[in-house]
Formats: sequence, C-alpha cells, structure tokens
Amino acid sequence: MTFACRVHDVPLDEGRTIMLGDRAIALFRTPGAWYAIDAVCPHRGAPLADGIVTDRAVICPLHDHRYDLATGAALTAGEGITAHAVEVRGDHVYVALAPAPANGRARPVSDHRTRRPRWPNAASGCPPRRSTGWSRRPRSG
Ligand code: FES
Repeated sequence: MTFACRVHDVPLDEGRTIMLGDRAIALFRTPGAWYAIDAVCPHRGAPLADGIVTDRAVICPLHDHRYDLATGAALTAGEGITAHAVEVRGDHVYVALAPAPANGRARPVSDHRTRRPRWPNAASGCPPRRSTGWSRRPRSG
C-alpha cells in the first residue's frame, strides 16, 4: 500500500487525479467507500477523475462511457480499466497498485490531449493570430 492523500483532499462524491510513481490514478470518495482506477479513459484519454460519480460508477466526462469503480469493468461499450485496492487508515488514504496492463494502456494523465485546447483561444474556434514579429525585434537603447 502506498500513501495517496489525506481524506479531506477528495471531496465527497468527487474524484481527484493523483500520481503514484509514474502512474496516474483517479481516486474517488463516495459515502460508503473509496475507489481507485487508472486515471485515463481508455476510449479517448479523458481524465476520469473529472467524471460524474453515481451508483458505484463513474461516467467519463467526454463521451459518457461508464466504468464500475470497484472492478473497473466497462458498463457501456468498450474496454474496462484497471481498478486498485484502497484502504483508509485514520486520515490517510492508501492505494495498492494493480499491475499495469500489458497493452500499455496506463498512460500518464499528461498524455491526454482531448480536453486541452490546441491554441489559446480555442474556445472561440479561431486559430491564433500570426505573430507580427514585434516581440522578436531587438530592444533599442
Ligand atoms: S474519452 Fe472517455 S468515453 Fe470517450
């Protein structure tokens, strides 16, 4: 078991992404139990800790695939995800990492690009302005 966080670090009915070594884990706190699964959705790489927690399942924030928090099994189409054992001792939360899947699915959460804008004003749908070169001019004086 590896120390993951303190109890108050994860609000009730929410998830948080934590790094344990080089593995990103989504840790969830529900009224009845704590759960840990790999942090990255196997469908398109969304951060599962940002998903909606409901009935011992998490709904991926991007395309609504559902995963069982206890087993990691896919409750909708697609492949499941690795689940890890969680233990709470006092104020401390510990996770026992399951072995990484052989297909290399356990990517660091920084690998996902699906929610990251490709350019700063991506929300407007406009590409960035071309540089005028102004910033590259040498300073005078
Ligand atoms: S990225 Fe999770 S369902 Fe598509």
